[in-house]
Amino acid sequence: MHLNKIEEKILKGEYGEERASALKLVVKIGELYNAEKLVKISSAQISGVSYKTMGDAGIEYLKMLSDKAEVSVLTTINPAGMDLKNWKKMGIITDKFRKNQIKITSYYEKLNIEPTYTCAPYLGDNVPSFGSHIAWAESSAIIYANSVLGARTNREGAPVALASAISGYTSYYGLHLKENRTPTDFFEIDKNVSDYSLLGAYIGDLVRNGVPYLKFGNVKTQELKNLGASMATWGSIGLYHIEGVTPEYKNYKYKNKKIYVTEEDLINFKNKRIESGSEPELIAFGCPHLSVTEIKRLNKLITGKTRKSTSPDVWICTSRYIAKKAAKELHSLEKLGAKVLKDTCMVVAPIERGYKTTAVNSMKASYYLPKKSFCNQRIIYGKDIDIVRQFL
Ligand code: F3S
Repeated sequence: MHLNKIEEKILKGEYGEERASALKLVVKIGELYNAEKLVKISSAQISGVSYKTMGDAGIEYLKMLSDKAEVSVLTTINPAGMDLKNWKKMGIITDKFRKNQIKITSYYEKLNIEPTYTCAPYLGDNVPSFGSHIAWAESSAIIYANSVLGARTNREGAPVALASAISGYTSYYGLHLKENRTPTDFFEIDKNVSDYSLLGAYIGDLVRNGVPYLKFGNVKTQELKNLGASMATWGSIGLYHIEGVTPEYKNYKYKNKKIYVTEEDLINFKNKRIESGSEPELIAFGCPHLSVTEIKRLNKLITGKTRKSTSPDVWICTSRYIAKKAAKELHSLEKLGAKVLKDTCMVVAPIERGYKTTAVNSMKASYYLPKKSFCNQRIIYGKDIDIVRQFL
């Protein structure tokens, strides 16, 4: 791999031992993928924050790192395992969990990472510009940054994204290269399709590893984060294009050899693939974390409903940043009995301690929540409007 003088100096330790080790890891990964060079990044997004996913060994490593290192670019961070201020209202956080979670977040903050605790940093202050190189972990954010914003990132794992944040570099391979952003699979979406989360899962499952190109009339752009999140989860997809909508579609020609997708295809897919429960103990919205528009919509849907003592708990998961912007609507949702949770989500929180059946409007959550050793939930999947109608 070609390295310039500054990169060589960093590797020799002239900018600190920790930055040198971080860059060594980035270079190693680049060599594995035959990257010709390194490229500077403008931001990083870190995953692996919940005590539930990290465990005790991860805490020790973070402690050591935070004693010596710090990030060198704008770095935001994924949700933790609990609402860091209001964990009590979750009703499932033990003392041990809380103490360890606080250790993890304090070490990350010591590294100078912004305390955003959201998987949707692009709705806040980490909005990469078109063509910029970034190193993001968190599949839903990666696919949004690549597809909707036109930034360039590979699907980084947690340790490599952290090494990039500390070193300020990533290796130039994969989706950083224009030629790897070419569509591989073509879809035409029937105009009656309205469930973007389910559509994303269907396409992700079909394509698995590739770059889908969609022809889709009247796309609701506020739904693209849900489309991408499930596409990236049900397949290993980091980028898609939509004709007339996403910023790079013009670089490519739509091929007529395409798959036509109807509402019926999606319903069949859901019926086959989603393990189904019947009576939810919890309804959880916000995977990925809700935007202001989604909160307003939920508020409208739930307003006027009277909570019964038998009604399921309701979680509304969002970021601190968005919670400030939608304070009025969230307050009214709380008055209706919903629990507004910041900094966390239904998947990385220890949900299995309190619930066995959860209703969600996210196919990403529907993928992870049933995992036996992880969340162990029976699932009810539906659009938000159907869930509210049926269970509230
Ligand atoms: Fe975000 Fe948690 Fe879903 S991190 S994308 S809300 S699984």
